[in-house]
Amino acid sequence: DAVLHVAGARPNFPKAAPVIRALDRHGVRQRLVHTGQHYDDRMSEVFFRQLRLPEPDLNLGVGSGSHASQTAAVMTGLEELMVADRPALTVVYGDVNSALAAALVAAKLGIPVAHVEAGLRSFDRSMPEEINRVVVDHVSDLLFATSPDALAHLETEGIATEKVHLVGNPMIDTLLANLDRFDVAGIRAALALPERYVVATLHRPGNVDDAADAVGLVKAMHSVADHLPVVLPLHPRGRRHLENAGLLSHRAMRVIEPLGYLEFVSLVRGAAVVVTDSGGVQEETTMLGVPCLTLRPNTERPITITHGTNRLVTRSTLAEAVASTLATGRLAVRATPPLWDGAAGERIARIIAATLR
Ligand code: UD1
Ligand code: UDP
Repeated sequence: DAVLHVAGARPNFPKAAPVIRALDRHGVRQRLVHTGQHYDDRMSEVFFRQLRLPEPDLNLGVGSGSHASQTAAVMTGLEELMVADRPALTVVYGDVNSALAAALVAAKLGIPVAHVEAGLRSFDRSMPEEINRVVVDHVSDLLFATSPDALAHLETEGIATEKVHLVGNPMIDTLLANLDRFDVAGIRAALALPERYVVATLHRPGNVDDAADAVGLVKAMHSVADHLPVVLPLHPRGRRHLENAGLLSHRAMRVIEPLGYLEFVSLVRGAAVVVTDSGGVQEETTMLGVPCLTLRPNTERPITITHGTNRLVTRSTLAEAVASTLATGRLAVRATPPLWDGAAGERIARIIAATLR
C-alpha cells in the first residue's frame, strides 16, 4: 500500500530525489526499487551518495542487454514484487527501458502508474526513448509534465486532460537545491583546465553505435578541440567505437570517466559551450545560462530552444556553431521555462498524496 518508485538509469536519479523527499514531508510510505539498468559506481551509486537518495529497498540487478532482454528482466523482477506487495501507486521517471518495463507491469496488474516527465515528444521513432515515452504515457493514470508543449502532445494523443498536470521539472529542483554545492573553481583546478573550455557528452545510439560512422563524429569533435580544449566525460556506451575512430589523438581532447553529479554540473556551469546529445543536459544548460549545442536532428525538449540556450547542430555545422557562440560570448538565460522553480517535487507530492487519500 505504499508508493513504489522505480529507477534504474543515471537520468532517473536526479528526477526521483526531489519527489521522494517531498513525499517524505507529506508522510507518504515509500519504497524504491533500483532495476540495475545502470550499475557502475559512476553511473549510479555516486548519485545516491551525492543526492542523499535513500538506499533502494531492492536492486533487481538486471544489467545490460538487448532492449527485449533488459526490459523483460525488469518486468519479471517487478511483477513478482508487485504481486507480493501491491503498491498503491507506481512512479516511473523519464524515457528509459526501466520506466517502460515498470509501467507495463503495473498497468497490467491494475496498479496505478504515475509518469514523471510525461508528454515529451521528438516525433522520431528511431529513438528507443520515443517508443518508451509514448507507451508509458498511454498506460499512465497520472501524468506529470515539465513543459506546456507536453500538455499539447498528450491532448492530441487523446489522453484525458484530468490525468495530466503541469508541475515543472524535478531535475531542475535538484539543480537549484544544489547550487551552492557546485564548485567551478574546484573542478577546473582538479582537471587542470584553462579559464575557457568546452564540455561534451555523447551517448545516443544514433551518434555512437555505428563503428564506421564514429569517424565522422570524431572529426567533428576534433574540429571543436581546434578552438578550445574539450572535456568529454564519456558514457560507457560510446567509448569503444569512438576510441577506435581516433578520438584520443587530438591533444586538446580530454576524455575522462563519467563524473558524479556535483562534479559534472560544476564543470558545465563553468563551460564556455556545451556539446551534447543528452536530454537532461539540454535542460541544465538552459537553467544555468550556458550555451548548449545539441548534436541531434531533433529534440523532445523544444522549450530549451525557445526559452533557453539550446541549439540543434549537425556534425558539419558544429565547428562553425562553436566559433560563433564563442564570438558572441555567454548567452544570458532568455527566460526560465514556466514552473522550473525548484518546487516540482512538492507539486507532484501534493497531487500524489491527494489521490492516495
Ligand atoms: C540509457 C537510456 C537512455 C539514457 C541513458 C542515460 C534506454 C533505452 N536508454 O541508455 O535513454 O539517455 O541510459 O545514460 O533505456 N554500461 C556500462 N555500465 C553501466 C551501464 C551501461 O558499462 O553502468 C554500458 C553497457 O555496455 C551497456 C551500454 O552501456 O550495454 C548501454 O547501457 P543501457 O542502459 O542499455 O543504455 P544507455 O545507452 O545507457
Ligand atoms: N551527468 C553526470 N555525469 C556525467 C554526465 C551526466 O552526472 O558525466 C548527469 C547530468 O547532469 C544529468 C544526467 O546525468 O543530470 C543526464 O543523464 P544522461 O545524459 O546520461 O541521460 P539523458 O538525460 O540523456 O537521458
